[in-house]
Amino acid sequence: MDKKRHTIISLVGARPQFIKLAPLAKILNEKFRHLIVHSGQHYDRMMSNIFFDQLNIPKADYNLLVGSGNHSEMTGKIMMRFENLLAKLQPEMVLVYGDTNSTLAAALAAVKLNIPVGHIEAGLRSYRRDMPEEINRLLTDQISSLLFCPTPQSIKNLKKEGIKNGIIHSGDLMHELINSYKHKISANRIILKKFGVAPKKFILLTLHRAANVDDRNILGSLVDIICAIKKPIIFPIHPRTAKNLRKFGLKKKIDISKNIFLTEPLSYLDNLSLIYNAYAVMTDSGGMQKESVFLGTPCLTLRDETEWTETLKLGNHLVGLSSRKISRLLADLPTCKNKAPYLISNGKPSEIIATALSKFLEDS
Ligand code: UD1
Repeated sequence: MDKKRHTIISLVGARPQFIKLAPLAKILNEKFRHLIVHSGQHYDRMMSNIFFDQLNIPKADYNLLVGSGNHSEMTGKIMMRFENLLAKLQPEMVLVYGDTNSTLAAALAAVKLNIPVGHIEAGLRSYRRDMPEEINRLLTDQISSLLFCPTPQSIKNLKKEGIKNGIIHSGDLMHELINSYKHKISANRIILKKFGVAPKKFILLTLHRAANVDDRNILGSLVDIICAIKKPIIFPIHPRTAKNLRKFGLKKKIDISKNIFLTEPLSYLDNLSLIYNAYAVMTDSGGMQKESVFLGTPCLTLRDETEWTETLKLGNHLVGLSSRKISRLLADLPTCKNKAPYLISNGKPSEIIATALSKFLEDS
């Protein structure tokens, strides 16, 4: 068999998608003609290229250069540009990752040309339809032929929605990636020196969800909460959050606070080293909740719900915007059980995914 005869396209566009692609790209390149298409949703060096460079992801073969825009503009532009490219490249499969606007747009463009879609990280649900990511996940799962589920809970979620075919328990690619870099993560002290913090003596904070940062009052409450925390806080700031802090006149409060170190977005390894060394992580990111649990650092999730319900037994705490819950937890943090038993699958996620893709393409 000519192992390169099947063409698979991975469409990625945002930071968490580059991270999920990293452990998969190598094996896909070995087994298939694998092309990477970047939607251009994230375009700053620290939101995009740094991940390709640091995680040895091959350079994208094509870039749709959509840039910023509102939801419809971004989704529409990706669909139009990706459809043209699909017509030219004629792949047998399109892989989409996670839950961003790039995920849904690419899945829709592919399925309308009768190109089967594989969804990496399928079945995750927050059961909050006011989150753009939830709509992206629900719709992408409905039109995917292969659904690569990271956890048993994600499989149950799909079955509840009547999805029966194409479900594969792949395990979690982010767990695979962290394991392969664990030694570098624990050995990296340079980043602690950069911020002048000692291990377990600081908090790492990230914020970017629309629900937390697009409303002046909510972002204002969050700024008040973090300014009241006495421990040093390292705050790598997402462009959406940076823009809104300026727009709402809230940035000054952070600038004058002596405990908060604002910094540009960090590379994968610097971010993970900070998670590993932090006293606690405070975040509204889905990925960082898991990464904290994988590395044994308690996480305070600044949301009222999580898609990763399994992490709640393992050191992740939902605190919403409650300053009472936050100060109580920071004063007396329960130890983190850094096992991830729910992640057990029958092998390496990247290998499970590649094998399932081969079988699907051979059978079709
Ligand atoms: C997106 C995803 C979210 C994911 C997150 C990871 C959607 C709906 N949301 O949210 O699920 O967790 O990425 O980061 O797709 N910007 C820059 N430079 C960049 C990228 C973005 O300045 O490199 C600006 C854009 O101009 C925009 C804002 O940041 O104004 C938000 O970017 P966008 O891609 O819309 O959503 P995210 O908040 O990043």
